[in-house]
Amino acid sequence: MSRNHVIGKRGRLPWSIPEDFAYFLESVKGDVCITGRKCYAELGSAIPGSGLHIVLSTQGITYPDAVVRPSLDAAMQAARTHGRDVANVWICGGTSVYRESFPIAEEFWATLVHADVDGDVYFPHNWQQHFPVEVSRRRSSDENYRYDFVIYRSRPTAHRKVKLLGLLGLCLDICKFLDIGVCATAAPREKASEGPADMVPIA
Ligand SMILES: NC(=O)c1ccc[n+]([C@@H]2O[C@H](COP(=O)([O-])OP(=O)(O)OC[C@H]3O[C@@H](n4cnc5c(N)ncnc54)[C@H](OP(=O)(O)O)[C@@H]3O)[C@@H](O)[C@H]2O)c1
Repeated sequence: MSRNHVIGKRGRLPWSIPEDFAYFLESVKGDVCITGRKCYAELGSAIPGSGLHIVLSTQGITYPDAVVRPSLDAAMQAARTHGRDVANVWICGGTSVYRESFPIAEEFWATLVHADVDGDVYFPHNWQQHFPVEVSRRRSSDENYRYDFVIYRSRPTAHRKVKLLGLLGLCLDICKFLDIGVCATAAPREKASEGPADMVPIA
């Protein structure tokens, strides 16, 4: 996400940050990913390395390598029944999918790009109300951008089930799969709460 909340431009990411994309793929590896139809179209395939890519669409379309569901509730149900070895459910955009997920998300993994960027798709502006706690931050840069990898957490409530992954500028770090339903106390939290090994937790 850029300083002015941009996450997309003309159906694509507004930037190319190889480290950010690698971080995204590593974070979601083996997990369930939920995206809107346009995000899938941008990739042209399921998210590489994900355990299951669930695409939201009301159009009754099918894809060879992804499951399609007509609502977020139906997608979460599909995630629940996918398998118990899945640690997290990640909501990877776009705008309306992020917004709808705020009330059930535990964490928001954001890549904050320190620049105003031209674009036409935005991250919901009220995200800080939902994720007020900064857990960790790692600074980085490349030849084009300065950016931080930051993990935010929601206020704990009994109803939070998902994490938002904010990669690529901001895939909402989604949901902890085993937190959904009956297995909350058994949920493995390594990936979601600690972040990459070189991230420094903030008290
Ligand atoms: N920087 C980042 O981290 C990041 C992350 C994600 C996306 N992006 C960018 O954002 C853009 C794409 O995002 P977008 O917001 O335009 O589109 P999107 O969310 O990927 O797709 C929107 C479509 O998804 C379906 N959909 C969304 N919510 C749904 C729901 N609750 N139930 C059923 N279907 C639902 C609908 O499809 P139907 O019309 O088929 O019903 C809707 O038209 C691209 O430019 C992409 O590069 C950036």
